[in-house]
Amino acid sequence: MADTIRFDDKVVVVTGAGNGLGRTYALQLAERGAKVVVNDLGGSTDGRGDDQSAASRVVEEIRAAGGEATANFDSVATQAGGANIIRTALDAYGRVDAVIANAGILRDRSFSKLSQEELDIILDVHLRGTMFTVQPAFNWMRENGGGNIVMTASPSGLFGAFGQANYCAAKLGIVGMMRVMAIEGAKAGIKVNALAPTAATRLTATAGMSGEATEPKTPEEDPMSTGRVSPLVLALAHASCPASGEIFNAGCGWISRAVVAVNEGVLLDDFSPEGVAAQWDTIRDPSRLTVPVDATDYWRMIQAKTGATG
Ligand SMILES: NC(=O)c1ccc[n+]([C@@H]2O[C@H](COP(=O)([O-])OP(=O)(O)OC[C@H]3O[C@@H](n4cnc5c(N)ncnc54)[C@H](O)[C@@H]3O)[C@@H](O)[C@H]2O)c1
Repeated sequence: MADTIRFDDKVVVVTGAGNGLGRTYALQLAERGAKVVVNDLGGSTDGRGDDQSAASRVVEEIRAAGGEATANFDSVATQAGGANIIRTALDAYGRVDAVIANAGILRDRSFSKLSQEELDIILDVHLRGTMFTVQPAFNWMRENGGGNIVMTASPSGLFGAFGQANYCAAKLGIVGMMRVMAIEGAKAGIKVNALAPTAATRLTATAGMSGEATEPKTPEEDPMSTGRVSPLVLALAHASCPASGEIFNAGCGWISRAVVAVNEGVLLDDFSPEGVAAQWDTIRDPSRLTVPVDATDYWRMIQAKTGATG
């Protein structure tokens, strides 16, 4: 039996914690002793408007259950907002041990009709919003013994989904950012991982899947419950997490790791497009895969295969 995962004396920031997945993370973190900063702008699923009641309600729920929480209503999509979210944690509790960058919206449109505005708002909330919130926490953690960061990607971003070019670009961008932060934060004890969740929320309702029930269901009642994703997120946000720089999927209680891998490939001896065309089947064959740790590791693989020394 593993040790109990507790967050006593720990401070955790959850963005977009007024609804859906973030709300469940915040409630469960507080239940396990964390002091939680509940951030939420409180807008619609396509990023319009704002409403302080979303974050306030979750803070009230946490306090009513005997937990500790502070609300923050800033948008993650501006640098000032991100800085203020982390300042809220430092002002209220004096530290930040973990950040779960979770806030998100959708503006689905098929690629041929995608407008610059629809691209920009999705990049602002997801990609820039993740950086704006996580960077001040990352810098604080570097000086104060490390911490845990969970970034939110998406199965759509990893695998592709019709009508979500803007969202997928942002979500895979977050994965790239996460890989670099894991490398740059390692010496300081900062662990950074990405989550690709699947659960019924108001966001999935707009994307044509089943949505969150008015009264959120427990993991026992509903396979699509946010409570079947949250166990992984709490484990990633805890100091005992063994992973950094990795991508994890969680949906309906199925937890798995997604990897960016390289297959066996071929060694060209005919350096022409015809030389490639003759070997397409082997070049595309995904049956034997290796997962490079980083770009330097990949360069070592090239050297080992080809004898190149660069
Ligand atoms: N539910 C899923 O199946 C699923 C799948 C893939 C990815 N995700 C991702 O998980 C995260 C949580 O989504 P959810 O499904 O719980 O949706 P949700 O709409 O229930 O929750 C998202 C929350 O983020 C808040 N938010 C939006 N823009 C914000 C901003 N600029 N600043 C601060 N808060 C803001 C919203 O007000 C909302 O409360 C998102 O990043 C989403 O893209 C969810």
